[in-house]
Amino acid sequence: MSNPITPSSAEPVVTAADPIPAPVNRIPTPAATPPDILRCAYMEIVVTDLAASRKFYVDVLDLVVTEEDETTVYLRSFEEFIHHNLVLRQGPVAAVAAFSYRVRSPEDLDRAVAFYTELGCRVERRSEGYVKGIGDSVRVEDPLGFPVEFFYDVEHVERLAWRYDLYTPGALVRLDHFNQVTPDVPRAVAYMEDLGFRVTEDIQDEAGTTYAAWMRRKPTVHDTAMTGGDGPRMHHVAFATHEKHNIIAICDKLGALRMSDVIERGPGRHGVSNAFYLYIRDPDGHRIEIYTQDYYTGDPDNPVVTWDVHDNQRRDWWGNAVVPSWYTDASLVLDLDGEPKPVVSRIDDSELEVTIGADGFSYTRKGDEAQGFKLGNTL
Ligand SMILES: [Fe+2]
Repeated sequence: MSNPITPSSAEPVVTAADPIPAPVNRIPTPAATPPDILRCAYMEIVVTDLAASRKFYVDVLDLVVTEEDETTVYLRSFEEFIHHNLVLRQGPVAAVAAFSYRVRSPEDLDRAVAFYTELGCRVERRSEGYVKGIGDSVRVEDPLGFPVEFFYDVEHVERLAWRYDLYTPGALVRLDHFNQVTPDVPRAVAYMEDLGFRVTEDIQDEAGTTYAAWMRRKPTVHDTAMTGGDGPRMHHVAFATHEKHNIIAICDKLGALRMSDVIERGPGRHGVSNAFYLYIRDPDGHRIEIYTQDYYTGDPDNPVVTWDVHDNQRRDWWGNAVVPSWYTDASLVLDLDGEPKPVVSRIDDSELEVTIGADGFSYTRKGDEAQGFKLGNTL
């Protein structure tokens, strides 16, 4: 598929299928059937001060503690029925230990082993699981360098959806998605499509340079996004609220606690995904997104939306600027021995460099660049 962004294109451009250019250095497609992934299920992060992180995630963000011990806290959202959506583990280096997906059946773990073995990846399986609450599971270092887990067996816990006596104004109700930083987005997308993911939206320029892609298994905009940059790193993990006002309540609470400095970007409305958003940073700098009200994508012919990287409304529908740290900062990821993975630089153009203070070609109305900047924009 050729890139759909042209000088005259109305934007965003809608196409029937993935419009991302074929990668130059493609990861081979395994002959093995991929595991049937249901959804992003939890992230395991290493934190350097467990007490400080517990205070942030439990006392400030109101995530629910399922279980905890001296080194680890297992947290879930209000509507979750599996043991956890986030694991905080005390460790020496702030990093991500696992991006974990639930699969449809126990047999899908055999499929994951075969799929990644054929790719030449490091694959480890533990019948007793890697963390509490999770049974038989497979961990791999995927071809992009990320630590990925697959599991089916999991301990069920109470779904607190009806427990309005426990809800707070900013209640987080679901894990929504991961976001990963990787140098070569088309290469990452081709591999993820082999794994069964589909592209929902992407950002390109007229040359076909691809800056980011949003990919799904569950019928929402995404389970993970591939963001172009130095990687492998973790850009953020996102939790959903029911409504927009819940996100505003979180902002108000952070202000009341004199913690407004943890707000990195937002609140705002995304162009990509159409969701309402807020980005905050935890005590180690791990980025958390609070996200709500994206759209249904479950039909097989769900249209793909491609945004022009120079469209000032792509990342914020109201045209508010993206802060540079949002582009540059991300968390390290660990290999299966717990060692930080080396970071490889992106070679393709950087979205930060082509959109912030550099090019003078960003617009609100295409063809109307002289009038198109937002008042107060420093471009
Ligand atoms: Fe996100």
